[in-house]
Amino acid sequence: MKPMKIIDGKEVAKKKKQEIAAHTAKIIDAGHKAPHLAAVIVGEDPASMTYVKNKEKTAASVGITSSVYRYPKNISQKELLNVIDFLNMDAEIDGFIVQLPLPAHISSQKIIERINPAKDVDGFHPLNTGRLVQNLPSYLPATPFGILQLLDYYKIETEGKHCVIVGRSQIVGTPMSILLSRKAKPGNCTVTLCHSQTQNLPSIITQADILIAAIGKPEFITADMIKQDAVVIDVGIHRIKNTENDEYHLVGDVKFDEVSKKTSYITPVPGGVGPMTIVGLLQNTLKAAGKEIYQ
Ligand SMILES: NC(=O)c1ccc[n+]([C@@H]2O[C@H](COP(=O)([O-])OP(=O)(O)OC[C@H]3O[C@@H](n4cnc5c(N)ncnc54)[C@H](OP(=O)(O)O)[C@@H]3O)[C@@H](O)[C@H]2O)c1
Repeated sequence: MKPMKIIDGKEVAKKKKQEIAAHTAKIIDAGHKAPHLAAVIVGEDPASMTYVKNKEKTAASVGITSSVYRYPKNISQKELLNVIDFLNMDAEIDGFIVQLPLPAHISSQKIIERINPAKDVDGFHPLNTGRLVQNLPSYLPATPFGILQLLDYYKIETEGKHCVIVGRSQIVGTPMSILLSRKAKPGNCTVTLCHSQTQNLPSIITQADILIAAIGKPEFITADMIKQDAVVIDVGIHRIKNTENDEYHLVGDVKFDEVSKKTSYITPVPGGVGPMTIVGLLQNTLKAAGKEIYQ
């Protein structure tokens, strides 16, 4: 039995932000403008607003300029496509994101496909997804990018390991499965990608050397599903109201208290994967500013 280690996402994110700040300062010292990240937000979903506010604050802390384009929830798809065209053309903006989810009358797919792939710092455009699959340079979706960096930072062996990912979303589970099966470091895993139609899910999870939980269900993963000394990465994030007062606390997709007793490494919630997601986005913004992927 190995001693359990907490993967401290806050600490890693702090170091990565120092690197981003140093890189940004170099760009500015060389006489270039500061990298510029824009965010488009439609409506007033509180979680989206908090997320965008955090992005603005973190970008400012590393010297990256940010701007937010806010629109009411009744904006038409055509008007939003015009906004995308404007941001695609604006030479001041290096990269931008469209905060999801969008209202039901707007097709997220149509909006994403309209983004210039060179400015698609969320890495959601089909061209960037295709490049990722073909192991070509691309913008990696921020959360999987952050998880790769956590595995790398803690020197967690992935080669030949069985990695079970629960959740196949386009932003987390699916790109994570491709990244960890690539001939790369971290990578070279044997990956099993599970979803809501998977049969015998607990028995598959018990085979995981590395488990990545991106299910969106609070404390779904329990200790009986975990192999001794597994590495557990918890992507889930849920605000739960306390029974004793009107306040809230955060939990993940993993029942941390019991699962952590069996793991060799585990990410806490909060303070695990979350802080690394914004780091991934800012790293992509630097790549966009340096035209590292598209000339
Ligand atoms: N920390 C961060 O920075 C960060 C970033 C992104 C997301 N998150 C959090 O991560 C969680 C997942 O987000 P997401 O956007 O990837 O989720 P999502 O789009 O809601 O997808 C959830 C996935 O889980 C699968 N699933 C649902 N119930 C299941 C069950 N009972 N058994 C097996 N699989 C099941 C779904 O299967 P189907 O495909 O069959 O429906 C789907 O593939 C959420 O809590 C979200 O808030 C955190």
